Amino acid sequence: MAKATMHFPPDFRWGTATAALQVEGNNENSDWWPWEQQPGAILHGQRSGRACDWWANAEADLDRAAEMGTNAHRLSLEWSRIEPEPSVFDRAALDRYREILQGMIARGIEPMVTLHHFSNPLWLVEKGDFSTGLVVDYFRRYTARVVAHLGDLVPRWVTINEPMVYMFMRYVAGTFPAPRRKGLLSGLEALRNMMRCHAAAYHTIKEQYPQAEVGIAKNIALLKPPPDGGRVQRAWAKRMSWIFNDMWMQSMVTGRLRLPAGRGRIPHLAGSFDFFGLNYYTRFYLRFPRLAPETDWGDDAVVSDGNYGEVYPAGLFEAIQAANSYGKPIYITENGVPDAADRLRPGFLITHLREVWRAISFCFPVMGYYHWSLVDNFEWDRGWTQRFGLIALDPETQQRTLRASGRLYGEICHSASVSSDMAARYAPQVLPVLFPG
Ligand code: FCB
Repeated sequence: MAKATMHFPPDFRWGTATAALQVEGNNENSDWWPWEQQPGAILHGQRSGRACDWWANAEADLDRAAEMGTNAHRLSLEWSRIEPEPSVFDRAALDRYREILQGMIARGIEPMVTLHHFSNPLWLVEKGDFSTGLVVDYFRRYTARVVAHLGDLVPRWVTINEPMVYMFMRYVAGTFPAPRRKGLLSGLEALRNMMRCHAAAYHTIKEQYPQAEVGIAKNIALLKPPPDGGRVQRAWAKRMSWIFNDMWMQSMVTGRLRLPAGRGRIPHLAGSFDFFGLNYYTRFYLRFPRLAPETDWGDDAVVSDGNYGEVYPAGLFEAIQAANSYGKPIYITENGVPDAADRLRPGFLITHLREVWRAISFCFPVMGYYHWSLVDNFEWDRGWTQRFGLIALDPETQQRTLRASGRLYGEICHSASVSSDMAARYAPQVLPVLFPG
């Protein structure tokens, strides 16, 4: 077998990613809290509960992240903690976030902060949340307060996480907490308002910190025609891929809405992103005329826990190519696999990072990789059934165990490289593919 090492640039961000609701615990003012209590809302009736106990002790996991050799972490702020009642801001909550961010920096971990990651204050839902235009001023006010308190600690902001996923899950599929008005039309209204919120937040941050970088985290879902598909299937997958992956981004470039999102211009939206935050997990087969992808990936596919998706590393390269067409620096803001037994994750890490390395070798400006996730956490409507952590967590006892993939990621981060030697020790099955010879 050939011996080889793939080296990454010295200033590369080696990170992990989390979201507030999924790790903090006891987010009682969030719309997820009452939703989790409704029968059938979450798989097996599970609850976020204490989650990973980060509100009390994020520091313990940050210690582990630092030991692992990571130098970056992406987390999100819980709006419902910061503004539990309309225009009532909780100074203590902002101080706690400040403490967490300072703790990261003290450990050599650069923060990337997301303002909205799938959860809302309950009061906002009562007012109509993203399907009312009121949300834009609320979001601007929340952003201004957050940036005034934390802005000196944050070089890079994500305004909204995965707007298309959020819109689909909440307004169409109904797997996220129900808005007051459901359905595609309200969803499209919400999408337009999310664009307005993004633009408002972008400029609010820039007014206070012109040098801060601001972007969004955009999930690129590789939507493909089924392998047996003909012309109609190809056309359908292409159209849906454009809507899901490109429509939002093109509006951010031009400031113009595109159908089906709508028509006309969104003021101050054009050019309002400094980097492309790319979330990539898997590819999907889409069969005309369905919107929901197939749940069968074919006999040869390696599929992760709970039939979540196929392990398809080449897709990350394709997603980076797509992101690169926007001409901005790229951060892989999420990439990971649900795998409680850690059967797939070591190979997943090596093969996906190889695609990142390949992209960098082609001079695509990929600046960092944030693995989802540092520690097992509450996976939205799938509850605790999907374990994405480099660190395993028992949510009952809060006991943690570093997985083999966590040790591997540690070696990768410490050495800023991926080698055939690591593959031989952690994932020998990938050797013949990655290091033939
Ligand atoms: C992404 C979400 C993140 C997590 C991963 C598995 O879509 O942004 O919170 O749930 O999927």
